[in-house]
Amino acid sequence: MEIKVFSSYKELSSACAKVIIDQVRNFPRSVLGLATGSSPLGLYQELIRDHDVNHTSYKEVKTFNLDEYVGLDKNHPQSYYTFMMENLFNHIDIDLSNVHIPNGCAFDLEQECANYNQLLEKYHIDIQVLGIGANGHIGFNEPGTPFDSTMHLVKLDEKTRRDNARFFSSIAEVPEYAITMGIKNILSAKKILLIATGKNKSEAIFHLVKGTPTPEWPATALQYHDDVVLFLDEEAASLLK
Ligand code: GLP
Repeated sequence: MEIKVFSSYKELSSACAKVIIDQVRNFPRSVLGLATGSSPLGLYQELIRDHDVNHTSYKEVKTFNLDEYVGLDKNHPQSYYTFMMENLFNHIDIDLSNVHIPNGCAFDLEQECANYNQLLEKYHIDIQVLGIGANGHIGFNEPGTPFDSTMHLVKLDEKTRRDNARFFSSIAEVPEYAITMGIKNILSAKKILLIATGKNKSEAIFHLVKGTPTPEWPATALQYHDDVVLFLDEEAASLLK
């Protein structure tokens, strides 16, 4: 595991963006695994800026998002579909038929998970972007999720709902369920870039780097992957010293 610590979020985001831009320039048909949340926002801004200035093209890139809330219409302001459109896809030349985001409003969620898994098996993710929850979740793989899990329906941890309530008008509006890539899907990516900032993430980062792998801290599964790069600010890295 490679650990990079940055003194500013801007530098962190540029360094992370560079890895993706190099990949897309060298391999225009790359497959990217993408994440939502506040952590990758700076990365997406850098990708947009580079697209504007250097014209890096995403026309042939395929993307797979990690997860989606259950029960939010894709046009709901807090759906991960809306997040990706507003924060990245509306601003680059990606072909929307190459964009994959799980459908949390599918009538048959089990079938939706099975279909998404099939796609993930067909298109091997080159680079997976990850954030991390304060409880160590990756995607929406909450504590207790087996490391061999694939795409599945999850009941969100109360801590996760509280953490994400800041995006909704009240905690009651935060969905109780989500569908998410499983840990096995995430570990299948060739390379993983994980972004974490702030003191709130320091304990999860400590377990990820120094802890014994355990489903109680889902991100510790990343210790089994041989190409993981952590992009941290000083606060997120503060317990590593
Ligand atoms: C959400 C997402 C995760 C994300 C995490 C951290 O619950 N499902 O993919 O990594 O929370 O979010 P943030 O980056 O806003 O702290």
